[in-house]
Amino acid sequence: MTKKISVIGLGFVGLSLAVVNAQKGFDTIGIDIDNKKLTNLRNGNPPFYEIKLEEFLRNSIRKKKIIFSNKISSIIDTDITFVTVGTPTKNGKIDLSQVQKVVLEVAKVLSRKKQSHLVVVKSTLVPTTTNDVILPKLQHLRNIRLAVNPEFLREGTAVQDLLEPHLIVIGEQDKQAGDALVKYYKSFYKKLPEILRTNFITAELIKYSNNAFLATKISFINSIANICQNFPMADVTIIANAIGKDPRIGPLFLNAGPGFGGSCLPKDLSALIAFSKNLGDTNILLKAVQQVNKTQPDKIIRILKQMNVLRKNKIISVLGLAFKKNTDDVRESVSVSLIEKLLDYGLSIKVHDPMATQNFAKLFHDRIIYCKTIKDCLRNSDCCIVMTDWDEYKKLQLADFKNLRVPNVIDSRRVFDPSKFSKINFRAIGLGV
Ligand code: UGA
Repeated sequence: MTKKISVIGLGFVGLSLAVVNAQKGFDTIGIDIDNKKLTNLRNGNPPFYEIKLEEFLRNSIRKKKIIFSNKISSIIDTDITFVTVGTPTKNGKIDLSQVQKVVLEVAKVLSRKKQSHLVVVKSTLVPTTTNDVILPKLQHLRNIRLAVNPEFLREGTAVQDLLEPHLIVIGEQDKQAGDALVKYYKSFYKKLPEILRTNFITAELIKYSNNAFLATKISFINSIANICQNFPMADVTIIANAIGKDPRIGPLFLNAGPGFGGSCLPKDLSALIAFSKNLGDTNILLKAVQQVNKTQPDKIIRILKQMNVLRKNKIISVLGLAFKKNTDDVRESVSVSLIEKLLDYGLSIKVHDPMATQNFAKLFHDRIIYCKTIKDCLRNSDCCIVMTDWDEYKKLQLADFKNLRVPNVIDSRRVFDPSKFSKINFRAIGLGV
C-alpha cells in the first residue's frame, strides 16, 4: 500500500518535497502555520518561484493528491512525517525553537496513535541536536521511529534535485527506522539513488561539511580572483577552468564573483563556526572563508573608485538582485550589502532583476529606482554592475550599453566575454587590466 506523507513547514524545502511526493502519487498533507500561504497554495499559487513547482502543485491539486492544513494533528492519518521547519540563525547561533515546538506537538499527536509512524527531520540541525534535543521528546513512544535525512537541494532546482539526488543520507535511530525510510525511497524512485546510512551526528555533520566545503571553494577562487585583478590580463576564469580539469579538484563551484549569498551557505557556515567555538576550537579555516566572503563586495567598490564614479549623485545601474539566477530569493544576496554601501556613498541606484524586484523592494522601498527593462535601467547611468548571472544578462551585447551616460561596466559574475567589450571601460572580478 502506498504510504501517506505529511510535511510540516512549507518553506522551499518542505513545499518542494510535499509537491514532488504528491506528483509521484503519494497522498500528501502539507502543514504550515501561515494561513495566507495555505490559501494561496490551495489555489495553486506557490509563495516563491521554483522551476516546475507551480505546474506540479496544480496537477496534484487537480488529482486530489495534496491537501493543506494548519493542524499538526492531521499527521495522525499519515505514515511518514517530514519535519522541514526553518532553523534560522540568531546572533550567529542556530535557533531551534520552531523545530522543538513542532517535535513536541508531533509527539503529543502520535501518542494517540497505535500504528507505527516514521518521523524524518530534514531541517538542518547543528550536530548533537537530534540525539540531545529531538530524540528525548519522541523516544518514550514505542511506535515512533526517528531518522534525520539532510537535503542537498539547491534553490531554483529543488524539484529536479529531489527527483535526481546525487546521494541520500540517512541518520537513523536504529535499523528499523533506517529500513522504514529506505522502503519509502524504494517506492519513490524507479532507480534507487545511492543511500548512505549512518548515525545522527555523522548525518548532521555531513550536511554542514557539504555546505562549508562549497563555501570554501567559492572563497578560494575569489581569493585567486583578487590576486588576478592586480596583473594586466590575468584571468581567474581561465585559471578556474584549468584547475577544474584536475579530477581531484573538479570544475564546479569555482566561479569567482561578488561572494556567496542565499539562505543556506552563510547561515550554515556561521553555525558551524559557532559550534566549533563551543568546542574550544577557533576553526580558522572557516573563519577565513567567511571573512573573504564578507570583504568580496569591497572589490567592486574599489573598481568604482578607480572608475571615478564613487561620488555623490553619480548614477549606478545594478543588474541582478537575486542571490543567484532562477530564483526570486534575495536573502543574504550580495546585491543587498553592496547597494547599502553604495547608498552610503551618496550614489543614486537603479536596479533590474527578472524576478526578484518585488522582494528587493520590501527591503529598500523608495530608496532606489526599480526598472522594468534592462534598457531603462541602463539609461543615463554612470556605471553598470552585473550582480547575478541571469541568462538574459549573458546575452547582452556591447550595443546594449550605448545608453549609459559613461561606458563603465563591471562584470562581477564573469558573464561576458571580455574581448567583446574592449571598446568600453570594462572591468571584471578576477580580470586584471
Ligand atoms: C546551497 C547548496 O548548494 C545546496 O546543496 C544545499 O542543499 C543548500 O545550500 C541548503 O543548505 O539548503 P543554495 O543556497 O540554493 O544551495 O545555492 P548555491 O547554488 O549553493 O549558491 C550559493 C551562493 O554561492 C550563490 O550566491 C551563488 O551565486 C554563489 N556561488 C556559487 C558562487 O559565487 N560561485 C560558484 O561557483 C557557485
